Amino acid sequence: MSIDYSQKIPNNVNLASNKTLQRALEHWQPAFLDWWGEMGPDKSTTADVYLRTAVSAEPQGWAHFDYVRMPDYRWGIFLAPAEEGRKINFGEHMGQPAWQEVPGEYRSTLRRIIVTQGDTEPASVEQQRHLGLTAPSMYDLRNLFQVNVEEGRHLWAMVYLLHAHFGRDGREEGEALLERRSGDADNPRILTAFNEKTPDWLSFFMFTFITDRDGKYQLAALAESGFDPLSRTCRFMLTEEAHHLFVGEQGVARIIQRTCEVMANEKTDDPVRLRALGVIDLPTLQKYLNFHYSVTSDLYGAEVSSNAASYYTNGLKGRFNEAKLEDDHRLDSENYSILDVVDGKIVERQVSALTVLNERLRDDWVKDVQAGVSRWNKVPEKYGIPFRFTLPHKGFNRKIGIFADLHVSPDGRVISEAEWQARVADWMPTAEDRAFVQSLMGRVIEPGKFANWIAPPSRGINNQPVDFEYVRFN
Ligand SMILES: [Fe+2]
Ligand SMILES: [Fe+2]
Repeated sequence: MSIDYSQKIPNNVNLASNKTLQRALEHWQPAFLDWWGEMGPDKSTTADVYLRTAVSAEPQGWAHFDYVRMPDYRWGIFLAPAEEGRKINFGEHMGQPAWQEVPGEYRSTLRRIIVTQGDTEPASVEQQRHLGLTAPSMYDLRNLFQVNVEEGRHLWAMVYLLHAHFGRDGREEGEALLERRSGDADNPRILTAFNEKTPDWLSFFMFTFITDRDGKYQLAALAESGFDPLSRTCRFMLTEEAHHLFVGEQGVARIIQRTCEVMANEKTDDPVRLRALGVIDLPTLQKYLNFHYSVTSDLYGAEVSSNAASYYTNGLKGRFNEAKLEDDHRLDSENYSILDVVDGKIVERQVSALTVLNERLRDDWVKDVQAGVSRWNKVPEKYGIPFRFTLPHKGFNRKIGIFADLHVSPDGRVISEAEWQARVADWMPTAEDRAFVQSLMGRVIEPGKFANWIAPPSRGINNQPVDFEYVRFN
């Protein structure tokens, strides 16, 4: 399963053996490069960036690091190795061989699933395109660019499936994926969170910690799919995704660390003083966490979903770690506990597990986010600072699902519109908070130097030192 880099489109799917498909993708390739030129990282085309490129799709030793100019990055098509005799693990087709071709009756549904996933990939590149101009260090700049080129590759992954399995409709979808634009009023990206701005590096780190983690759970559910090419594609994407999550978690942790250092040195927790000292006070970080967490939570969709139920029953999208779960994998008679609102009160309710698969995937994600937040909390703990980060209640600031029409406080009380209005500035970043964070953003790009508001990482990338020249400007 090694990757053939002698081809115009690097791949491990023996693309050369299918001339029609190869031609179609070679036709799409220049359109992708035009999109990258227009919407990829701003003022980045001449820099040599120390990036990893996939050289194999095996979990061990798949990455190769070297300097690359991003427009010359070898985006390609990499599927995880086929599992001999793989079967469908859930739903009404359980036990049947996984499909190598799209079943006719699921064609439009699968196409929609692939397009929706595919759309998020270029969207995040668009959202992040100006961040390079305010990088807090060369190390961080390199990580941003790594995330960006890999999101570009994830678009390739989805476009390959569209071209290879959905004929003319698939090719048209492939073009449309390059035409929508994040935040565009006329032709926006499909999902709301991917039309928000990523205006500063705190938002970027929160996004990669929280929203890329939604990506992880969506990909993990699709990696269970009975449609084997989708499963194999997503399995390899997950390998790349792990680094994005690391960038986010470690980025926020370094901000917390820097703030705690200043708090300990100056013996103060006064946000006004801390801001004057050029670091981001912990309550402001909490507000950003509240915002990104709630907006991303909506990406899972409504708690109760007949679409999610049929994706499952039809074998298109499984649960997280489906094969490892011990039940009948059909969910005909299983129950699952969700939150509901009855007479204005939040109550727990048992419902048919099949009807609330979105909520179940959200719960898996919540646990994972919480684990990361708990790791963050070790930083103030180490400095003897009592502040702890907490995730707001599931109903907080939701626009989709059971809580959409209510106001819920971070501690889980249903509150009035008046109370929400009176308190929202304590819970979500205000224009003033955002302006303050923005005011800290400046470009720091000498090797080994870091902006004042963020601590250096404890180690560099690929065993290189922290002060390594990760980006060579030309
Ligand atoms: Fe991605
Ligand atoms: Fe990602």
